[in-house]
Amino acid sequence: MSSEELLRGTSGALPAAPPKKVFVKTFGCQMNVYDSERMVEALVPAGFAETTDMADADLVVLNTCHIREKAVEKVYSDLGRIRDVKAWRAAEGKTTIVTVAGCVAQAEGREIARRAPVVDLVVGPQSYHRLPDLLGEIRAGRRIVETEFPEADKFSALPPRTGPRQTAAFLTVQEGCDKFCTFCVVPYTRGAEYSRAVADIVAEAEALVARGVRELTLLGQNVNGYHGAGADGSARTLAQLLVRLSDIADLERLRYVTSHPRDMGCDLIAAHRDLPKLMPYLHLPFQSGADRILAAMNRKHTADDYRRLADRIRKARPDIALSTDIIVGFPGETDAEFAETLRLVREIGFAQAYSFKYSGRPGTPAAGMDGQIPDAVKASRLDELQSLLEVQQKSFNSGFIGQVVPVLFERAGRRDGHLVGRTPYLQLVHVEAAMAALGRILPVAIASASQNSLTGTLHAA
Ligand code: 5AD
Ligand code: SF4
Repeated sequence: MSSEELLRGTSGALPAAPPKKVFVKTFGCQMNVYDSERMVEALVPAGFAETTDMADADLVVLNTCHIREKAVEKVYSDLGRIRDVKAWRAAEGKTTIVTVAGCVAQAEGREIARRAPVVDLVVGPQSYHRLPDLLGEIRAGRRIVETEFPEADKFSALPPRTGPRQTAAFLTVQEGCDKFCTFCVVPYTRGAEYSRAVADIVAEAEALVARGVRELTLLGQNVNGYHGAGADGSARTLAQLLVRLSDIADLERLRYVTSHPRDMGCDLIAAHRDLPKLMPYLHLPFQSGADRILAAMNRKHTADDYRRLADRIRKARPDIALSTDIIVGFPGETDAEFAETLRLVREIGFAQAYSFKYSGRPGTPAAGMDGQIPDAVKASRLDELQSLLEVQQKSFNSGFIGQVVPVLFERAGRRDGHLVGRTPYLQLVHVEAAMAALGRILPVAIASASQNSLTGTLHAA
């Protein structure tokens, strides 16, 4: 028995009949989006249907993120609001089971149970397949914290894909990380690197494509470190997996995220040249442009390694759009070192980027380092960096004005008669088009551009 019973009977005996509506709120990265879909799918056989109205939910799940302090604060503030909803539903004779899942659950399981009595169940990312069983135990009046890393592979224990039809889907191929960057909680919350077998991924991809998916984004905390087993049991690389998935006839586009510069193998770079279905967009975090900081971060690459890598990738696929993650104000970062980060951004030129103030995470080596930077300094560095990134992103997008680009239409837009799709470079495009265009790739003439999206008109072929 891997689950741990904390308290008996504090949430009161719950009725035997299963609750029917589940509300899931997802924080953080795409992997959590994927996990939330899988949790709902795991709950369907137990009689649940998803609702977008929390007040209507018999089961509320917060799928949480631990990467920065702010993400964690949001969870606790949501739990305050959920306490009110739970009380109000109880006054109407309705029971609400409150579950905290994801990385905060993994990292702070007991702390959550202590700080937030409203929570009935805390479940870590490796145990979602056990949700229906755990709910059974909750109904018997227990509170549970389940944060083991079980031996059984959760993926093979989860039911087949049954979620709503979609055009673009995520598919987790790898989880966990062995890199231990000194600022990062992922190796602790998601555990050691684990890659799913090729056959399992292909089966899931085929099921998604049969349900209408045309674009797949392969997910992993360190996705290009993928080393899952092939048919003969020996390890395959991410490039080999992409080649195999390219064979799925109705699958039109492939992407993958997030990559580490150290794991950009020659075959993966070549795949960007050779695989027409592999989209010309690559998210490749560099975190800092200063070698001393990169070493303190345990990134295992220098700024020049990154420059050379970007060159090689652009030689293989000249139109590739690069995206990155950057941290400002890592302990000990000087003004001159921050200037190195700005210089690297200017030299490489990014289509898109995510930038963050360093946030000390409990249990990580950097949290205890000397030279913690005052928040005001971090904030002003972040401002300066984001102004530069904004200019680059706008200029990347404006470069498309007047061009015709293939757009995969994903969903209805906010305005009537408009659809939203994506270019190969992951830009959002708003276009006036009939619903029949959903799920199709059509040429669009780009008319205008902003920092975050494009607009255009369907172009007669
Ligand atoms: N503080 C700030 N940013 C962080 N990231 C990861 N850990 C921290 C932290 N402690 C950023 C990194 C990573 C992205 C997902 O989040 O840039 O690539
Ligand atoms: Fe975290 Fe990414 Fe570093 Fe792994 S490689 S420790 S996930 S930042």
